[in-house]
Amino acid sequence: MTEPLFKVRGLKVALPDMTRKPPFGRVPLVEILKGLDFDLPRRSVTGIVGESGSGKSTLGRSLVRLIEPTHGTVKFDDNDITHLGEQRLAPLRRDLQMIFQDPMSSLNPRRTIGSIIAAPLKHNGLANVGERVAEALARVGLPQAFATRYRHELSGGQRQRVGIARALALSPKFVLADEIVSGLDVSTQAQILTLLERLADEMELTVAFISHDLSVVRRLCRQVIVMRMGQIVEAGPTDTLFAAPQHPYTRELIAAFPLPEIDPDWLASTPVEEKETQPPLGA
Ligand SMILES: Nc1ncnc2c1ncn2[C@@H]1O[C@H](COP(=O)(O)OP(=O)(O)OP(=O)(O)O)[C@@H](O)[C@H]1O
Ligand SMILES: [Mg+2]
Repeated sequence: MTEPLFKVRGLKVALPDMTRKPPFGRVPLVEILKGLDFDLPRRSVTGIVGESGSGKSTLGRSLVRLIEPTHGTVKFDDNDITHLGEQRLAPLRRDLQMIFQDPMSSLNPRRTIGSIIAAPLKHNGLANVGERVAEALARVGLPQAFATRYRHELSGGQRQRVGIARALALSPKFVLADEIVSGLDVSTQAQILTLLERLADEMELTVAFISHDLSVVRRLCRQVIVMRMGQIVEAGPTDTLFAAPQHPYTRELIAAFPLPEIDPDWLASTPVEEKETQPPLGA
């Protein structure tokens, strides 16, 4: 059994509660994550689900250290990153990447797609940047000519491909994917998810996949964490969790889930992982 990529213990996050800001003095804190314990196994996709405001994004942002936890420990690949300063985080940053929800606002409108993808490569002092950008575009199925285009010249799905290309340009160990298809139409969603699934498999990525769409999580993720009001109510392998949810909240969440929003062909297709582990018929 290999060690998990992330080991999180007693994770608490408290942030200033601006709704209760007094006219003078300190803003009171509100506890958003209330002591979470979980591991993220290597080279697999973990789904994070739960109602709006349950703390999914806060959890994700603590993993990539966009937020500094208030209590507890976050261990990444045997490094305690809980309170590391930016300078000591820097060498780890290339392994902690993020695909944003809205590529329209996360891509700089004044820079070409090529220079957007090149930025993290240059920042990390890598050689052959041009070649690597070409590789990154090919990886996400975009033509090379897109390197000279700007974000407004791309469709929503193409923009999200650029977001993925940028996040994966440095071959990271971990990728946070927070509601990455929520702005896209049904068939484009399926294409982006197929791409993420294939690349996660090929590049042996560990992915935290935040989504409100349970049918997508069920299809894509090997294990699931269910959040409610800043706590984990249930976590476990996807099959077990959907077949026999233990916590009433999980049951409620599954029961309340409306019809899938996603392309039924994709939902019915075989996940990459299974394809790999199952020998071909007659073999
Ligand atoms: N910077 C912040 N300052 C204060 N409160 C915050 C901040 N960010 C989030 N919160 C609060 O923390 C709680 C959890 O927010 P979070 O964004 O993690 O939830 P979420 O599960 O990602 O929700 P959604 O599904 O709507 O994206 C919410 O009540 C939110 O209002
Ligand atoms: Mg969120």
